[in-house]
This record gives sequence, structure tokens and C-alpha cells, in this order.
Amino acid sequence: MAEFSGKVVIITGASQGLGEHLAVLLANLGAKVVLSSRRVEALETVAEKCRAKGSSGDIQVVKADVAKKEECEHLIAETKRLFTRVDVLVANAGINQRGNVVDIADTEAFRTVFNVNFFGAVDCIKACLPDLIESKGLIVGISSLAGRALVPGSSGYCASKYALEGFLNSLRAELKADNTGVDVLVVDPGEMYHEDGAGRQYVGTENQLMQAPLNRKGRQSSAAVAHKVLASMVKRERYFSASLGIKRWVPLLMNLVPAFVERKAIAFVSSKQYPDGAKPQAG
Ligand SMILES: NC(=O)c1ccc[n+]([C@@H]2O[C@H](COP(=O)([O-])OP(=O)(O)OC[C@H]3O[C@@H](n4cnc5c(N)ncnc54)[C@H](OP(=O)(O)O)[C@@H]3O)[C@@H](O)[C@H]2O)c1
Repeated sequence: MAEFSGKVVIITGASQGLGEHLAVLLANLGAKVVLSSRRVEALETVAEKCRAKGSSGDIQVVKADVAKKEECEHLIAETKRLFTRVDVLVANAGINQRGNVVDIADTEAFRTVFNVNFFGAVDCIKACLPDLIESKGLIVGISSLAGRALVPGSSGYCASKYALEGFLNSLRAELKADNTGVDVLVVDPGEMYHEDGAGRQYVGTENQLMQAPLNRKGRQSSAAVAHKVLASMVKRERYFSASLGIKRWVPLLMNLVPAFVERKAIAFVSSKQYPDGAKPQAG
């Protein structure tokens, strides 16, 4: 995996979970890693883990709330000031959303989710696209099975990941048509839990930011998924799904037998309970 040695890699949402584990793996391969999210203290803890693997000057922390376009632009400008180039952007920052459409107080909850999951990725990509074209780089968009399926109780989240995938697939074609050499990898990380017990972030019915522990049953650790995503990045694939079992086939089944998938999704969601009383989510 010499591909990443000396390469400049930006990872959003690097303070925990999948982003954290990808950062440590890439540092281990000798990449220059820029860790970004809103919580600097948590990022510094991850940076220390990365520095234990890579060279300390090569690991940098840049605070950015990707829901704000100017902070996405700052992230890219700061990366270029530190390392002069960008080779890989991992648009990983994401939040979930819980609550049926009828139960949410206002559609602002959906805007909150889109501002992070969709515009957060789009604004980072737009800000470094010329640099990625120069380096014939790689864009990795962390989506979800929800980006190709349906999730009752998380319609806003689901929509944000569909939007992200539509954007990334179209962008890939544009970049290919122009012979830029830039690859675009869309990832469904499957259902994950975090070994350190960190909870997943989500927007509740009142548009409030919440965090809930992740059930381990039927889920893979984000550390294990990070290894799989890295392997896909090395191959510069178009799409990678870490979903397990029949879930891997859901996108195909959505086209072939949509009523079957709908029934399964309703049954899946009805079998789960969450402490805040909101409808649960998958993906
Ligand atoms: N967990 C799953 O089962 C699952 C399944 C399918 C897809 N995914 C997707 O995989 C990705 C990673 O998931 P995860 O479970 O590792 O996430 P997570 O544990 O909930 O962590 C979310 C990460 O995103 C960052 N973040 C949230 N809002 C942000 C904002 N406004 N600006 C910048 N950073 C922000 C958080 O950092 P700060 O709080 O420090 O800002 C944190 O590092 C997400 O895109 C998620 O949608 C997850």
C-alpha cells in the first residue's frame, strides 16, 4: 500500500468512528493526514494515535464545521498552507436523523442533515477540486446503504445520502469525460459500532443534536470497516459496500421487488427501540 506514502489526505469527521480509524491506518502508511471536525480536543487525541504511527509533522488538526461553506474553504486553504497540495479527500463527516416525517417539528431537521451530509461534502470537494485534478487524486464519499434503499424514521438522512451519491456519480462522469485522472469512490460502510463506545450523532425531532450508543448486534466495528474501505481506496474502486448478508443486495432488490424491501424495512425498524422514543434508523 505504498500508494499513500507521502500523499496529503484530508479526512472530515475524523474525531471518532470510521474517520478516526481511517486516519490511523493512513498515518501508518506514511500519509500526511489532516484531521478535521468540530471538536479539536477529540481530534488531538486521534492525532496522537496517528503520530504514534506516522511522522509527527505529517499529522495536522484543522477545526471545521462542514455545515458552513466558509469553514470547508478554510479547511482546504489551511491544508494547502501546511502541505501545498491535496491528493485525497475523504468526505466522511455525517449525522443521522430520527423521527417520522409526521412527528418532526419542522423540516429544519432535514436542512440540518443536508448541510452536513450533502453540502458538507460538496463544499469541501468544490474547494479542492482544482488541487485534486492537479494531483490526479481521489475523492471518497462515505454514504450509506440508506443512499440506495429506504429507511422509515430516517427519511431526511436517507435523502441526504441519495443526494450525495447522485452528486458523486455525476461528478465522476464529468471528471472522466475531461480525462482528469481523478477517481471517485462511493462507500456504504454497512452498519457499524464503535469499539470505544462512542455514540453516533443524529438530529432529533426538534432539530436538536443528539448522540446515542450503537448496538453491537449484527454490526461490524468501525475499525474493521476502515480496513475494508482502505482496501477499496487502494484499488480506486467506484463503489464499495461493507454491508453484510442480504443487505448487500438491497439496492438491486429495490429495483426488482420494492414491496418486499419495504415490508422488510418496516419490520426491521419496528423491531427496534431507542431511549429518546424516536423511531430508529438503519444504515
Ligand atoms: N455508524 C453507522 O452504522 C453508519 C452506517 C452507514 C453510514 N454511516 C456513515 O459513515 C460516516 C461515519 O459514521 P460514524 O458512525 O463513524 O459517525 P459518528 O460516530 O456519528 O461520528 C460522526 C463524525 O462526523 C463529525 N461531524 C458531525 N457533524 C459535523 C459537522 N457539522 N462538521 C464537521 N464534522 C462533523 C463528528 O465530529 P465532531 O463531533 O467532532 O464534529 C464525528 O467525527 C458518516 O457519514 C455516516 O453517515 C455510518
